[in-house]
Amino acid sequence: MGLLQTDSAITAKNYQVRCISCDEIQVALAVDFRCAHCGDLLQVEFTGWSSETAPDPEKLKTRWRERRTSNQLLDASGVWRFRDVLPELDDWSSAITLREGNTPVYELPRCARSAGVDRLRAKHQGMNPTGSFKDTGMTVAISFARQNKFQWVACASTGNTSASMAAYAARGGMRSLVVIPDGKIAWGKLSQSLDYGALTCQLRTDFDGCVRVLDEIIRRYPIYLLNSVNPYRLEGQKTAAIELLEQLDWQVPDHVIVPGGNLGNNSALGKAFLELKALGVVQSVPRISVIQAEGANALYRTVHENSGKELVSVEADTLATAIRIGNPASWKKSLRVIEATNGCVEQVSEAEIAVAKAEIGADGVGCEPASAVTLAGLKKLVQSGFVRSVDSVVLILTGHLLKDPEYTIQFHRGDLAVPRMADNEFRAMTARQRRSPIVLDANADAVLRALEAEGKRDG
Ligand code: F0G
Repeated sequence: MGLLQTDSAITAKNYQVRCISCDEIQVALAVDFRCAHCGDLLQVEFTGWSSETAPDPEKLKTRWRERRTSNQLLDASGVWRFRDVLPELDDWSSAITLREGNTPVYELPRCARSAGVDRLRAKHQGMNPTGSFKDTGMTVAISFARQNKFQWVACASTGNTSASMAAYAARGGMRSLVVIPDGKIAWGKLSQSLDYGALTCQLRTDFDGCVRVLDEIIRRYPIYLLNSVNPYRLEGQKTAAIELLEQLDWQVPDHVIVPGGNLGNNSALGKAFLELKALGVVQSVPRISVIQAEGANALYRTVHENSGKELVSVEADTLATAIRIGNPASWKKSLRVIEATNGCVEQVSEAEIAVAKAEIGADGVGCEPASAVTLAGLKKLVQSGFVRSVDSVVLILTGHLLKDPEYTIQFHRGDLAVPRMADNEFRAMTARQRRSPIVLDANADAVLRALEAEGKRDG
């Protein structure tokens, strides 16, 4: 199989790439980013972090904060600002950046009440340039694609990775191939990929089928794979955890709750928390819990039916299309993070997701359905006693509300058709959150009557 990056390209740098299963250091990276020896996933580790040579934690914190006031392109990125803990590019100035990261942490007071915790915050990764957390990983991985002189990049996607990749490829003067499941991605995401100029192929299969097809393409065509099996993606995504802690003045929360699809993101965030602890930047790590949709619950079943030994693949079906994944690639990385941080895995129903999404909207923030699993999951974790009301909790909201407007409109109108549940049962369970648009004649009396009716509803 072709190689995309050779020994000398890695070893002269601040990092090496190692297999997560057999521990073999990779002397070259294969096009599928799998271990040359055993075929498992790879991860980046930093060679200069022994006790004598590790960067000084206080100096890191000061440097990262100082860069926030700099107008240099790299410093203005909420990812590259943390380049001291990222794999080194040959030339930092060749990074392809859209000033990603720098996303807000919001208080969610109404959601806190509904979940039964005193205080709840959300880091909104949907506020990235293309509206999802994927941008933080994409800026790093695509910069390595360009460094390795690739003209084409590719990904299989449920819509957000493809939107992000298409944008960054366009910025970097590269071409991109998007492979997505036909009819199963939200319009907002598809429209992004088209506008950013990707070659967009909608395959008659699901996400897992798209992954299989792309796996063959990368072996037959010189194209750089940008799915989250690419370890550089996770390096970029881990910066959200660093930025979060910085925003919390390095006060480590008790819990961080993350949606789980292909399971790269929670693995990346966990890697960052554990690395920061190893470096002495913080003294503890939050518990990282992963929430899946009941209809795409491979990790949940793997833990509960199989003690985490072998992946239980599922036939995925959920209206949270971003996480409609049955065979998650990073399940082992994810389980290790959950174990290392004493987190857990929970699953939530379509009705629970829909209610939670509307509640996050009602706090003036909003998110796409896959992100709302976090609040839905938190409610269950509070009920089970895993999260206490006094604990500090941060939800990771992964995608912007406007990514999937059809879901939101259909939900509020009451015509969302939900898998595995009768429509009238779903409508009854979500009645309190739905706010249907009202069509009226063009006169003030009609609108005033609507206002009065609303007052009664509120009262
Ligand atoms: N939330 C959103 C909005 C996503 O788009 C995804 C994944 C996830 C959560 C799950 O993250 O896969 O790292 O566990 N979307 C991918 C895509 C699969 O192709 O856009 P994960």
